[in-house]
Amino acid sequence: MWQLNSVSKLPIYLQIVDLIETKIMNGELLPEEKLPPERKLASMFGVNRSTVVRALDELTARAVIVRKQGSGTIVNAEKWGLFAGQSTNWRHYLTQGGFTPTVPYMRQIGITEKNHSDKMLDAATGELPLEMTPKLKTPSLSWQSFIAEEQLEDAAGYQPLRETIEKQMKESYGLNVRPEQILITSGAQQALFLITQCLLKPGDAVAIESPSYFYSLSLFQSAGLRIFALPMDSEGIIISELKDLYHKHRVKMVFINPTFQNPTGLVMSLQRRKELVQVCAHLQIPIVEDDPFSELAALDENIPVPLKQLDMENVLYIGSLSKIMGSTTRIGWLIGPAAVIERLALARNEMDFGLSIFPQVLANAVLNTAEYDVHLKQLQQILLERRDYLINALETVLPNELSYLKPAGGFHLWVHLPVAFRSIRDFDIFAKNNLLIMPGFLFGIKETIIRITFARLGEKEANKVAEIIKKIVIENKLFHQ
Ligand SMILES: Cc1ncc(COP(=O)(O)O)c(C=O)c1O
Repeated sequence: MWQLNSVSKLPIYLQIVDLIETKIMNGELLPEEKLPPERKLASMFGVNRSTVVRALDELTARAVIVRKQGSGTIVNAEKWGLFAGQSTNWRHYLTQGGFTPTVPYMRQIGITEKNHSDKMLDAATGELPLEMTPKLKTPSLSWQSFIAEEQLEDAAGYQPLRETIEKQMKESYGLNVRPEQILITSGAQQALFLITQCLLKPGDAVAIESPSYFYSLSLFQSAGLRIFALPMDSEGIIISELKDLYHKHRVKMVFINPTFQNPTGLVMSLQRRKELVQVCAHLQIPIVEDDPFSELAALDENIPVPLKQLDMENVLYIGSLSKIMGSTTRIGWLIGPAAVIERLALARNEMDFGLSIFPQVLANAVLNTAEYDVHLKQLQQILLERRDYLINALETVLPNELSYLKPAGGFHLWVHLPVAFRSIRDFDIFAKNNLLIMPGFLFGIKETIIRITFARLGEKEANKVAEIIKKIVIENKLFHQ
């Protein structure tokens, strides 16, 4: 039967590919057997001939079939034995599995950056650039002394590091936590992953700021969660919208990045923080406070207390060293009630046997050096300079044309452009001009807004970025005149 599966969500040409591969695997199509002509296949499947051609091209590329001049398309005899006897249909597993890969645009940005780093200006990658990572010395220990440290480790992580985090939380934010309330994670990302996998179930509704970095992650979709957007004003999320969402969809958890929010740079006001924790406590919705940037306040800026300090019980707090020491450090932490920490630690142990001892010992040593504070101050100073280079450059080339909020810290500038982009493909114009930025649609919004990561731009680069944006704005205006 040459019939496609009517309930499949795959594109038609891939359904044809699957059908032909299945026929070969079942032995319905034999080595060197001739396939029906393209026109006939098209009419059997009820599709355009071009769809059949695309499917046959794919099968030819996989060496499943061969096209022979004069004799039509036949099943590849060499491939057939392998195919029918041993090969696994990985496509089936890949499409059925629960994991959703990163959005293609994000992957494309990563690839373009890697392959063309010499000519591309990177204002997209949200990672600390190498020259801004600490030059602090790490302890030189024998392999055995590292391994010996495992005596001080349990499922929740390396004890001395948990004590250091405890001390840091007290000094930086006045937070009183005990080590058993701290789980060391492989970056903030693992903390988010453990929360979505272990504390929520598929179909649960969660509320997320709009725009938000979380839209660019696949872990919410992979956990089968329903995501609802929380609109923001200049003080943070609008609380009445959260109440509405709760009543309509029974929101189970709220994910907030209240300080130097990625992508907007916004700091949620103290008043709004208080309202948020009050409403969530009343509705019994736990809050996840994702806070990788708050140590990066521009010098002398006063940042409101963390949500965690306003409600120690109902807030799960996530911190990270990624933006201070480099994201490949892979050290983050989750602070929550001891029972939750214990449960997530056990779940993590089931998944990967716990964290490597090496980054934990090294991070602990570096966090306890006197020079660490000097590094942090220098980082704040450089970020402040880079923010101002970018803003000055943009204001010089496009005075009063762009709308943005001057962030009091963090890595990013969120800029509304005075252009009329009609589709997401229009954002390709930046890469064509050798500039990588993050378009707003990756963060869940439709307007023509871009995130520029100033952390990666010195003065010269900031000027170049501004010139490219000016060129794009002018060309777009001319085009629409
Ligand atoms: C708001 C926010 N949360 C979490 C992360 C992930 O951090 P980590 O590298 O610690 O996993 C990032 C990284 O850009 C971020 O911007």
